[in-house]
Amino acid sequence: MDDVSITMTPPESQNLKKIVAESAVNHYVRDGMTVGLGTGSTAEYAIRKVGELAASGYELTCVATSLRTEKLAAEVGVRISDLSDVEHIDVTIDGADEVDPDLQLIKGLGGALLREKIVAAATVKEIIIVDDSKLVQKLGTRSPLPVEVVPFGHTKTKYALEKQGCKAALRTVGGRPFITDSGNYVYDCVFAAIESPFFLESRIDVIPGVVENGLFLNTAYAVLSVNGEGVVTAIGRDGTRDILTP
Ligand code: 5RP
Repeated sequence: MDDVSITMTPPESQNLKKIVAESAVNHYVRDGMTVGLGTGSTAEYAIRKVGELAASGYELTCVATSLRTEKLAAEVGVRISDLSDVEHIDVTIDGADEVDPDLQLIKGLGGALLREKIVAAATVKEIIIVDDSKLVQKLGTRSPLPVEVVPFGHTKTKYALEKQGCKAALRTVGGRPFITDSGNYVYDCVFAAIESPFFLESRIDVIPGVVENGLFLNTAYAVLSVNGEGVVTAIGRDGTRDILTP
């Protein structure tokens, strides 16, 4: 008999984002919940899926992590509540830029780190959705660490950031500083690797002018990671690993 070779076409990257985002919504969002909506190209698919649930009759209270997310939520028919008006958030689904083996994260390449961290702090189950290219052995090896700073005296803040062992670059758009939803600037800090994330965070947080940093430590309840074949693995805070069915 002739050999038959079957070539599997791997799902493209946008499709992988959709797969992991929809899997997170299917597994964690239930009728009646208060849901935090993340920011970024992966979280966008989760927002659209939440829109489908709302259209199907789910009573959801939703909180947004950025103005961009608020806008998309409105487009897909999801009403956004003010974080100050909800008691707590049952589940937030958000993306990340890096995930280490202890589920410590870098977030903020999308510029929403401040609101994302405030929302995460009010959340019972923070679910992080990524493709497996974001899984790293050490934070800082794939992504810079975004740090949000007030514009006043920001070059002095940059100097203090660089004393922590990084090269800090002001994030710009079209030649002008990128402005966050809270009117601040972002410095993207490139480290060779972040050896002690908790220590680094404590050093950055005491720099005058720093509003928030992109280290999300002990924040993730579970990380859902999709591989090139579209298989989603849920990695729990307790070390469990489960393959999720769609
Ligand atoms: C925004 C974020 C995003 O969640 C993070 O940058 C991942 O985005 P994407 O899913 O587009 O790769 O932290 O501030």
